Amino acid sequence: MTVTPSTPWESAPSGPVTVPPFAVVSGDQVQQALQGREKQIVDLVEETYRLHSAGYSVNPPSYFLRFPDRPSSRIIALPASIGGEAGVDGLKWISSFPQNVAAGVPRASAVLILNDRRSGYPFACMEASIISATRTAASAALAADRLSRGRQRPTRVGFIGTGLIARYIHTFLAGTGWSFDAIDVHDVSADSAAGFRCYLEQSGATGWIVVHDSPEELIRRCDLIVFATVAGRPHVYDPSWFAHRPLVLHVSLRDLAPEIVLASDNIVDDAEHCLRADTSVHLAERLTGNRDFLTGTLADVMAGSVTPSADRTVVFSPFGLGVLDLAVGKYVYDEVADSGELHVVDGFFHELRRYG
Ligand SMILES: NC(=O)c1ccc[n+]([C@@H]2O[C@H](COP(=O)([O-])OP(=O)(O)OC[C@H]3O[C@@H](n4cnc5c(N)ncnc54)[C@H](O)[C@@H]3O)[C@@H](O)[C@H]2O)c1
Repeated sequence: MTVTPSTPWESAPSGPVTVPPFAVVSGDQVQQALQGREKQIVDLVEETYRLHSAGYSVNPPSYFLRFPDRPSSRIIALPASIGGEAGVDGLKWISSFPQNVAAGVPRASAVLILNDRRSGYPFACMEASIISATRTAASAALAADRLSRGRQRPTRVGFIGTGLIARYIHTFLAGTGWSFDAIDVHDVSADSAAGFRCYLEQSGATGWIVVHDSPEELIRRCDLIVFATVAGRPHVYDPSWFAHRPLVLHVSLRDLAPEIVLASDNIVDDAEHCLRADTSVHLAERLTGNRDFLTGTLADVMAGSVTPSADRTVVFSPFGLGVLDLAVGKYVYDEVADSGELHVVDGFFHELRRYG
C-alpha cells in the first residue's frame, strides 16, 4: 500500500546527514528482480504517473547530447526526483547507437544513478537498459488496458518495429493478461521480423503470427498497434489506413504523419515533454499552431477526468519520464538490498573530512 503525503514535499527528508554506502547493481541482478513481476511493475508505473500528475515529482526536460560526426546516435540525460514511497532523486543516462544492431550489440545502453535525498550522495549505479525497457513496456501495457476500456477490447495486435522494446511490450501485455487471436509483425529488417517471430513462438504466444512486408496491411488488420521503430521522421501518412479506429501505442513517437495525429484522440504521458524533439505530436503542434488536438494525459484517463472517444483512433504517445526509471530503479534496489546481495564498493567516497 503506497502512502501518498498530503502535500508534494511533505515527505522531504529529515534526520541526520550521513554518507550512504555506494553499490553497483548489475544487469543480471536487475533482471532477476523484475522477471515475472509484470503486474507489480504496471501497478508501480500507474502509481508513479499519479504522483507525477499530482505534483510529487520534479521532472525537467530530457537533455539530448548529439554528435555532428554521428548524426544518428545520441545520449539522453533524464534527471528526476520522485516523492511518495520511493522518495529518491537521480539520473538516467541512456545512449542510442542504432548502428550497434548490425554488429549484434543492442542499440541502447544505460546507467541509472540513485541519489540519497538527505545528503545528495549517489548511493547506487545500476544497469538501466532493462529498467528503461521495463518501465516503457509497463507504461504501454497500462495504456493498452486503460485506453481500451469503453471500447471493444483489442483481439489482434500488430508490432511495427520489432527490436528489444517490442519484445518487452509483448512480454508485459502477455504478463498482464492479454491474449490475441493473431499477432502481426512488420520490420524493415527481415532478420528482426524473423527474430521476433521466433521469440513469439518460444514465448508460447497463442494465435496466428503474420509477418508483413509493409505496414499498411498490418495497420488495417489490427485493433492494437505498437510502433517501436527507430524512425526519425514520419513514414506512415495515410489516415485512411486507420479507418477502423484502432488503439495505437506510439512508443517510438515519430512514425505517424501529423495528419494522422490530428485525425485521432491523443493521450500523452506529459505534454511538456512530448511536444518536443520532433515527435509526431510536436509536428502536429507546429502544423496547427496549437495543442487543441491533445485529449489529455494517461493520468487524466486514470483519474476519470478524460475519456477518449470510442469512435476515433486513439494514439498514446509516451515521451518516457525519468520518474518512471527512478521508481522502477528504486524497486530493484530495494529488492536486491533485501536479498542481501548488494555489491557495495567500499571506500567509494574518499574525501570525507573537510580539512583532511
Ligand atoms: N517512449 C519511450 O518511453 C521509449 C522508451 C524506450 C525506447 N523507446 C523507443 O523505442 C524504439 C525501439 O527501441 P528498441 O530498443 O526496440 O530499438 P531496436 O533498434 O532494438 O529495434 C528497432 C527496430 O525498428 C526497425 N525499424 C526501423 N525503422 C523502421 C520502419 N520505418 N518500419 C519498421 N521497422 C523499422 C529496425 O529494423 C529495428 O528492428 C526506439 O525509437 C526508442 O527510442 C521509447
